[in-house]
Amino acid sequence: MTADQKRWDERFGRKEFALGKDPNPFLKKHIHLLSRGKALDLATGEGRNAVFLAQNGFEVDAVDISEKGLKKVRALAREKGVEINTVLVDLDQYQIEKERYDLIANFYFLKRRLIPRIGTGLKKGGKVIFETYILEHRTLGTGGPKQAKYFLKPNEPLRLFKKFRIQFYREGIFREGGRKKAVASLIAEKT
Ligand SMILES: C[S@@+](CC[C@H](N)C(=O)[O-])C[C@H]1O[C@@H](n2cnc3c(N)ncnc32)[C@H](O)[C@@H]1O
Repeated sequence: MTADQKRWDERFGRKEFALGKDPNPFLKKHIHLLSRGKALDLATGEGRNAVFLAQNGFEVDAVDISEKGLKKVRALAREKGVEINTVLVDLDQYQIEKERYDLIANFYFLKRRLIPRIGTGLKKGGKVIFETYILEHRTLGTGGPKQAKYFLKPNEPLRLFKKFRIQFYREGIFREGGRKKAVASLIAEKT
């Protein structure tokens, strides 16, 4: 078992949903920009976004390193009456199948090496929806990761996704989901 797996299994092993059952507000607000089809939710956690995508007509594969998290994804899917395909993977190694997905979601899991793999996994015209913390978040004192490598630098997503057509981008401090957070959010299309 890797250190990441142990840490997240501990966090997700409790009864309550650590990250909540409601979808990420940026995903919820922009769902109309995403065309239906096959979706992959990377590092799905307890499935708040995967389940929302399934409720909105996507056929969803949800992947994560935490089996305890995936168990909660399946429970939430049952509760909401949708189906999700959960797969236990280590994203340090996982290769996304070529041109399989219409949508790839990447929320609060910053692994820069994944971005070329997202490009490979999307069909032409497929979209990626992405959100995570920017460096300023560390000054807010509202939680989040500890290590600097997990925070985006100014405009970094625009560079990371430069081979895509950027459809929507924002960067700054927002009050969403009941707390203040400093994030970058992006929707981009594989051309
Ligand atoms: C902050 S949570 C985000 C969960 C979800 N995307 C969300 O926004 O609700 C980070 C997730 O990354 C997963 N994770 C950490 N390291 C991983 C790895 N190497 N491979 C796959 N998943 C990993 C954790 O288990 C956890 O579910």
